[in-house]
Amino acid sequence: MNSKYQIVKGFRDILPPESSLFQMAEKEARKVFACFGFREIMLPVVEYLELFARSIGDTTDIVEKEMFVIPDKKGRSLALRPEATAGAVRAYIEGLAGKGPQKLYYFGPMFRYERPQKGRYRQFWQLGAEAIGFPGPGADAELVAMLNQYFLNFGLDGIELKLNSLGCKNCRPAYHEALVKYLESRRETLCEDCKRRLDRNPLRVLDCKNPTCIELAKAAPSPIDFLCADCAAHFHGLKKALDTLSIPYHLDPHLVRGLDYYTRTVFEFQAPTGLGSQNAIAAGGRYDDLVEELGGPATPAIGFAMGVERLVILLEQKIEAKKISAGPELFLVFAGERAFHFAFKLLFALRKSGVAAEMAIDEPDKSLRGQLKLADKAGAKMAMIIGDDELTTRSMNIKLLETGSELKLPLESLREMANIDWEEMKQHLSSAGFAFVSRDYEKALVENQSLFTIMKVYFDAVKNQEV
Ligand code: HAM
Repeated sequence: MNSKYQIVKGFRDILPPESSLFQMAEKEARKVFACFGFREIMLPVVEYLELFARSIGDTTDIVEKEMFVIPDKKGRSLALRPEATAGAVRAYIEGLAGKGPQKLYYFGPMFRYERPQKGRYRQFWQLGAEAIGFPGPGADAELVAMLNQYFLNFGLDGIELKLNSLGCKNCRPAYHEALVKYLESRRETLCEDCKRRLDRNPLRVLDCKNPTCIELAKAAPSPIDFLCADCAAHFHGLKKALDTLSIPYHLDPHLVRGLDYYTRTVFEFQAPTGLGSQNAIAAGGRYDDLVEELGGPATPAIGFAMGVERLVILLEQKIEAKKISAGPELFLVFAGERAFHFAFKLLFALRKSGVAAEMAIDEPDKSLRGQLKLADKAGAKMAMIIGDDELTTRSMNIKLLETGSELKLPLESLREMANIDWEEMKQHLSSAGFAFVSRDYEKALVENQSLFTIMKVYFDAVKNQEV
């Protein structure tokens, strides 16, 4: 529809049902990350600009071209965060340093002024984790295993892990020299941006998106060939740990990443298809010098961030649309005025007991057929038919909308069920079969406690109805 006001370029509304996938991504992350001992850190979306210039690097694309900068009233430059590692380290130094190693995770929006395309937006969400105060390769393996587990839990098994090591401040100078020598002899073929990069930050040439520079980068020296003994041992330790955990990886000697703070391990999880050119779904690495560079005590650390929009694109291809937009458990369908009033009260009693229920709340004259159509459209699992008949004979009438089968229970059976507890009910059903319940209902009951709750709430409502 034509709207008078339009959304800002590169920004997106996340509408239902897509928002359910964001919730799924977040819920699963909270579950998996907690099992690995990570706790949530909630960070502001605004920081002083210098924090990003100092940590990500003032000659990186992110800081040079992609920052949303906001002047504050005192003339200082604030920036919308383009990523959360810098903020997490700042928060660690201000509030957590001296309290032992920290395993932290976050979920929130980031902002980069990039050219928007599929999987690349100016506001995007990251789920990330930072393990601060952990020097050994076990911590690297733990983070990689956590992400790997997360993807497997969603059944996303085609994702490839790319791995490299950038070395440390001891071995980086020799690599730097070899790289500059290689690039210098090819200066004329480099794009204009990379000619500048070569003078200011040659490593950045290796992640230039220009096709000629990509070709050139392929034959450039790799940091892996210049690792000092400690860095080589660390990298070996990581590979060994991943082998022990049977987590497959591919060594990519030219993986350098677009942020300056990395030392030693860097990695990316890439989706082979489905994301177009934005195939990195999650990425990270070690940043052993950053805490100290930002004014804290020397503290090694490693982390990653996952692009939630990119994960959601993959989940959309994987999860059935019906499952994504799960409707209410129950739709109440009434016939006549008396039934409408009964249903209205029952609706709120059900919701109070934790059952997701709906009805045509403002349409007391709506036909049965019309209400059943609404139930279908809403994606309800069950419909409860409430008419004079049900209220007079005090019975319950439920239709399982997926199979179309109906269940009618008289008050006596409901009373019996309402007096059993859930565990007992499950035992009943898994033993000899329940006398007055058909197969479909046994199955629905065993799988779904809310049908049992519905029966109980309904029983109370019919028992107490004013006739
Ligand atoms: P990054 O590689 O810049 O690393 O971003 C991580 C992930 O965020 C990317 O792999 C991608 O999935 C997603 N992403 C990045 N930019 C966009 C965008 N414009 N639109 C949609 N998704 C995007 C970092 O941000 C580091 N802080 C990761 C890290 C944490 N390293 C250590 N700790």
